[in-house]
Amino acid sequence: MRTIKIFDTTLRDGEQSPGASMNVDEKVQVAKQLARLGVDIIEAGFAIASQGDFDAIKRIGDEVEGPILCSLARAKEGDIKRAWEAVRDAKRKRIHTFHSTSDIHLKHQFRIDRDEALKRSVEMVKYAKSFTDDVEFSPMDATRTDIGYLCDVVEAVIAAGALTVNIPDTVGYTIPEEFGKMIKTITQKVKNIHKAVIAVHCHNDLGLAAANSLAAVINGAGQIECTINGIGERAGNCSMEEVVMALRTRRDIYNADTKINTEEIMRSSRLVTKITGMSVQPNKAIVGANAFAHESGIHQDGLLKEKTTYEIIRPETVGFHKTKFVLGKHSGRHAFKTKLAELGFTLSDEELNSTFERFKNLADQKKDIYDQDIEALVSDEVTKVPEVFSLVDMKISAGLHEKPKAMIKLKVRGKDKQRTTNGDGPVDAVYKAITAITGTKSKLLKYEVKSITGGTDALGEVMVSLEEDGKSMSGHGADTDIIIASAKAYINVLNKLEAKKKKLK
Ligand code: KIV
Ligand code: ZN
Repeated sequence: MRTIKIFDTTLRDGEQSPGASMNVDEKVQVAKQLARLGVDIIEAGFAIASQGDFDAIKRIGDEVEGPILCSLARAKEGDIKRAWEAVRDAKRKRIHTFHSTSDIHLKHQFRIDRDEALKRSVEMVKYAKSFTDDVEFSPMDATRTDIGYLCDVVEAVIAAGALTVNIPDTVGYTIPEEFGKMIKTITQKVKNIHKAVIAVHCHNDLGLAAANSLAAVINGAGQIECTINGIGERAGNCSMEEVVMALRTRRDIYNADTKINTEEIMRSSRLVTKITGMSVQPNKAIVGANAFAHESGIHQDGLLKEKTTYEIIRPETVGFHKTKFVLGKHSGRHAFKTKLAELGFTLSDEELNSTFERFKNLADQKKDIYDQDIEALVSDEVTKVPEVFSLVDMKISAGLHEKPKAMIKLKVRGKDKQRTTNGDGPVDAVYKAITAITGTKSKLLKYEVKSITGGTDALGEVMVSLEEDGKSMSGHGADTDIIIASAKAYINVLNKLEAKKKKLK
């Protein structure tokens, strides 16, 4: 049985999804969850791309133990040096450098010939090797690259010291039969291939990213690059949960598995959804809300008799269950802290105090508290942004024959400000009042509400995306009252936008 390495690029390629940008705290939180999930490598960003990426990689190196920390770098000295500076203090580190190899890219984008691209790739792998032994190289747009030339590049970069050679399907163009054959050819034609791990990095433009990655595994790939919920550039990347569960469920075919702790899959999916504001469709494999819902009477009948009749994966295997939180509103701090540890969270004393206080408030409003409720409280706490705007009070009136009206009181840079506004609905009235008070000019791109757990007293979670000066940003808010959650989500994004503006100054 082979062990396939999982290279998670949620924080790099995943973050390239429109509107999915994450701040440093959020990236650290996702990285901690990826470590709990058991991924082998975290590609935490593209160090040279922005100060935010650089800071996030560095902090992840300081705070997250377990996986190898990796930064992306173009095949350029400046990129590679910056990548090294970002990862150098991590216990285990990797530099991932790339250069296009397809004629389409070389001719139209780089305006260089194949020999020059190969020379640059080799030189930059050697340069990266001067910093660390663990160097990965990607011939970008590999699936549209002449196979003979691709093999030459792969052989040359391995000779230069690359320990992992990643074959990216950059534009999501290949199909399983073709991609499998390509990987096989590489294993047969590249003389020194035994010195490196073959990785694959598939995009999902034709909906085939997971299938292509699996075809590569059958033909010799030892590392899959993927993202949580399959987020990423355009139609996204190969979805971690799909490939991992395909390998686990069909070990009989693949004779391969991963080291992923599958019970952490749902929690990882929820966290990434919440932080990026990108929900998964209900029928999404493994992590969609309906992934384990059986509607047909015939199926239900079979399931009642024997689960395996219609269930190929136990929901618990991927963490798809509601564990009742056994503490009540009279529980003390110690028991609360123990439960957090059980869920894998370690908070500072200050974070613990604040989360505990919010837990008590929640326990007053809600009868049953589930793990997901606690996850929501913790994630709100650790991704807090400095509050330029904070909600002091709000009153809403709305009815069948009444125009919705909202009174909002905010603290703006320490001063109380109040406004009452009408709207088409209560949320519209709330958002108009907040906009009037804050004087912000952002445009609402997305508003989404869902319940974190079941029942009418469930915590409602609102996700909001706003656009300002061509940049989009997402935020969320949770409360048992969805209008309050809506206000919190809106204010959360406004604070994130303010924090970003401050950083750019
Ligand atoms: O899709 C791609 O080719 C990439 C490379 C940088 C690996 O993301
Ligand atoms: Zn990619």
